[in-house]
Amino acid sequence: MLHGPNLNLLGTREPEVYGSVTLEGINQSLTEESNKLQVQVSCLQFNHEGDLVDAIHKAPLEHQGIIINAAAYTHTSVAIRDAISGVNIPTVEVHLSNIYRREEFRHHSYIAPVVIGQISGFGSNSYILGLEAIVSHLRTTN
Ligand code: DQA
Repeated sequence: MLHGPNLNLLGTREPEVYGSVTLEGINQSLTEESNKLQVQVSCLQFNHEGDLVDAIHKAPLEHQGIIINAAAYTHTSVAIRDAISGVNIPTVEVHLSNIYRREEFRHHSYIAPVVIGQISGFGSNSYILGLEAIVSHLRTTN
């Protein structure tokens, strides 16, 4: 699970948009859900674009899939898109908010064309849905 910039502020950051669950709370729910699904999840958060690129490059060494909320880099980062398409590891894009109901600059995702699919708008539950999606993808394709 890769969390992008500013998501370390969840809990206090614009709660009317992102809810009041903290990043730690989200990671805890993901770990609980991963136990139920009998998979392992590691959760990392980076504010810097290059750190996310490095983490994507390393992902195939230890992991079978990526769930990513690239946050603002979703709408700006060709580097993150190229990293995902470069490593060729199944990836699910998630967002807390429905990016298509918000400002126009959030309507475009550079990442969407290189992922299996996108989950957007279900608050902290987007992450659980993302985990279920990647696990079900891996179980049906492997
Ligand atoms: C976000 C949506 C992005 O537009 C925004 O920049 C974020 C969070 C979400 O999860 O809703 O930081 O990815």
